[in-house]
Amino acid sequence: MTELKYKRILLKISGEALSGEKGSGIDTDTINEICDRIYKTHELGVEIAIVVGGGNFWRGRSGVGMDRTTADHMGMLATVINSLGLQDALESRGIPVRVQTAIEMKQIAEPYVRRKAVRHLEKKRIVIFACGMGNPYFSTDTAAAQRAAEINAEAILMAKNVDGIYDSDPSKNPNAIKFDKISYQEYLNKGLSAIDSTAASFCKDNSIPMLVFGLDNPDNIIRAVKGEEIGTTIY
Ligand code: GTP
Repeated sequence: MTELKYKRILLKISGEALSGEKGSGIDTDTINEICDRIYKTHELGVEIAIVVGGGNFWRGRSGVGMDRTTADHMGMLATVINSLGLQDALESRGIPVRVQTAIEMKQIAEPYVRRKAVRHLEKKRIVIFACGMGNPYFSTDTAAAQRAAEINAEAILMAKNVDGIYDSDPSKNPNAIKFDKISYQEYLNKGLSAIDSTAASFCKDNSIPMLVFGLDNPDNIIRAVKGEEIGTTIY
């Protein structure tokens, strides 16, 4: 039996991570590759909840000149598209999946009910939380933190397009330095922005560690649950 460091995780996948080289929308090969690794992680016996972003279709800040609440509602709908895409790809691998939405759309998915979500996890179903928290002005990073706390996840696995937390934006500064570990307090003091400060502050207050890593190597999800130090750990 493989030693697992984390038995219940909240996996946050950025919307962009699903678009692969295309840069927007869902790339079939990319989503399949990610779901193969989620499948293997699930096979290890890990209870997995997922929050997916929507930035591959729409992000609140794309709505320049728009009402922010409307732009954020559009972003929430983008997360539903990604959640259904992930559900389909995971179910085609034989994993039972339940999508729960923070905003009711019962014809499409279950509404979010915390106790049902926990029950699904106990029954080894993957639960995907869509629509963020259903509130504008909050990111899907913050939704991931909130849901992780509610389901008693032991860690948030933050799968991004960047392989960790840097002291400045590595896409703009080639000399940016990556942290192996950083406390939430230090993260907030430095004014870093890879994870939004609301999510960081929430995880600090609720003692939820966050493992930030890139999906350039999809095996990183499995490595992270086994406790390998990859990317950046925020504690
Ligand atoms: P258990 O109660 O543990 O057996 O969980 P379950 O999810 O299998 O049972 P349930 O009867 O709640 O759901 C059966 C199927 O209907 C699952 O695929 C659910 O995702 C789906 N389902 C349940 N409630 C809703 C809903 O409000 N809307 C939609 N669209 N699907 C739902």
